[in-house]
Amino acid sequence: MIQLSTSACLLGGLFLIAPAVMAPTPASMCTPLKTMNDSLSHRRRYMKHNLPINYTIRVHQKEIFKLSNISRMRLHVEGLDELVLQMLWFQINKGVLKKILRVMPERHPSRPYTAELEQRLKDAEGVFDQSHHAEELQQELPETIQNIWDSLTEEPDRVPESSWRYASPKSLLDNFCHTMYCLFRECFASTEAQEDYCAVTHWRKGRKKDLQPES
Ligand SMILES: *[C@@H]1O[C@H](CO)[C@@H](O)[C@H](O)[C@H]1NC(C)=O
Ligand SMILES: *[C@@H]1O[C@H](CO)[C@@H](O)[C@H](O)[C@H]1NC(C)=O
Ligand SMILES: *[C@@H]1O[C@H](CO)[C@@H](O)[C@H](O)[C@H]1NC(C)=O
Repeated sequence: MIQLSTSACLLGGLFLIAPAVMAPTPASMCTPLKTMNDSLSHRRRYMKHNLPINYTIRVHQKEIFKLSNISRMRLHVEGLDELVLQMLWFQINKGVLKKILRVMPERHPSRPYTAELEQRLKDAEGVFDQSHHAEELQQELPETIQNIWDSLTEEPDRVPESSWRYASPKSLLDNFCHTMYCLFRECFASTEAQEDYCAVTHWRKGRKKDLQPES
């Protein structure tokens, strides 16, 4: 049985969310995820500089998956297991990369980069699948999550018009990266003890870092 990732304790009329036993990220996951992170660190060049200004692509509304979604889900979805969030992360980002690749012509300078990200995500998912029991991966999902899953796997032509959103590839990869640090934080432990990768504000105040030129 998997423990809940958070437990709510009623204290003096206040709900405090205390970290409890996490489904720990197996150490084997850290190698492919760090490789993923190395690739993602070049996203500004490939997903912004190589694309027209303000370029956006059409994605499913549920493919916009940010830290704020994770905190909302942790608060409101009963019996939500970390593992389920990790599975959702894979599912969403595979879809995102597929959609970015689809708009890039064969010779687009960012295409090999995007294909590499896709391959690395598949590799990481392979390790993920191997390091968990089948029954964990096939557990019944909380209804909210099952509904998201179903809408993500819906045939595109059956997705209602109102469920599509436009987003820039760079913003989608920012979400991809930030949620990875949060959901697999054991692999990205920082020397700064105060670092909380799941805090929405972490990236707001960290925005400047994002503007630095990259190698
Ligand atoms: C991700 O990779 C970049 C570039 O290799 C590195 O500077 C950064 O510290 C890494 N992030 C984390 C959270 O490990
Ligand atoms: C890009 O978007 C920004 C903010 O919405 C806008 O101010 C700017 O004019 C746009 N640039 C182009 C080239 O469309
Ligand atoms: C994340 O939240 C936004 C609204 O802020 C919503 O449109 C989107 O569908 C949510 N994503 C998921 C995966 O639930």
